[in-house]
Amino acid sequence: MFEGKVVAITGATGGIGRGIAEMFLAEGAKVAISDYKTCETTGKEIGASAYICDVSVESSVQKFISDVEADLGEIDIYVSNAGVGDGNGRYVGGGSNEGWQRSWDINVMGSVYAARDLMPKWVERGSGRFVITASAAGLLNQIGSASYSCTKHAAVSFAESIQIEHGANGIKANCICPQYVRSALTEGMAMAESSKDGFLEPKDVADALKASIEKDEFYVFSHPIVHEYFKHRAHAPDEYLQGMGKLKQKVGRPFGKPKST
Ligand SMILES: NC(=O)c1ccc[n+]([C@@H]2O[C@H](COP(=O)([O-])OP(=O)(O)OC[C@H]3O[C@@H](n4cnc5c(N)ncnc54)[C@H](O)[C@@H]3O)[C@@H](O)[C@H]2O)c1
Repeated sequence: MFEGKVVAITGATGGIGRGIAEMFLAEGAKVAISDYKTCETTGKEIGASAYICDVSVESSVQKFISDVEADLGEIDIYVSNAGVGDGNGRYVGGGSNEGWQRSWDINVMGSVYAARDLMPKWVERGSGRFVITASAAGLLNQIGSASYSCTKHAAVSFAESIQIEHGANGIKANCICPQYVRSALTEGMAMAESSKDGFLEPKDVADALKASIEKDEFYVFSHPIVHEYFKHRAHAPDEYLQGMGKLKQKVGRPFGKPKST
């Protein structure tokens, strides 16, 4: 299904991005990985072309896309995977304005810049797949980080918009919504290690993406329980909020000491 396809992935030095790159490589795709700092070592290790791309800067995203097109050919699948998250401190709305802006620029605008460049070409061609690594926090919530929750909700919404606006043009979107996955992002996070819903490996998420594409499903529920929580939130929103509130009391401040409140 992916033999010879050109796949471009952001934020792929390690973690989920690298896992997705390895999955597509194993399927015979030509894979380009990028990160805001060099990811050449990863590229050499797994056999992917490596690029530098800061997804919060539109010209950097445009350069990544045009370099990949020049080196490997037209992009068939773009995986907007780069993401950041940190705690907002003791009070909701805490954290610096710069931190909130950074989350918005990376978690949301990184996808917007890429879609803005790719969509006209894909609509003309009548095909293309845009994958966004959002999070379960984009459907539910990330306790202790409203900036992560808000921007990941926006990421889910943007993925939906791609499907709604351009599905009829032959374009597909996927939205990956994991809970905790082993990566630099979750390193040392006690809440991840002890999650009753499972602490997945990046490969599990990549395999779930492959399965969702094969089944033609928009959402990638690498933790199937997230789908159940999502349905519960829709059917019983007050009960869901009470449950999350209780969980908050139990876990306290999962990101530790506040940085800026
Ligand atoms: N690990 C989890 O539990 C989990 C759960 C749900 C969603 N996610 C999402 O998965 C994605 C991948 O995260 P991960 O868990 O593999 O962690 P990770 O830290 O290994 O990957 C994130 C990558 O984004 C890169 N990055 C940061 N700022 C960037 C920028 N400005 N431009 C380009 N790249 C940038 C980082 O260098 C890093 O390589 C993120 O979007 C994250 O929010 C992770």
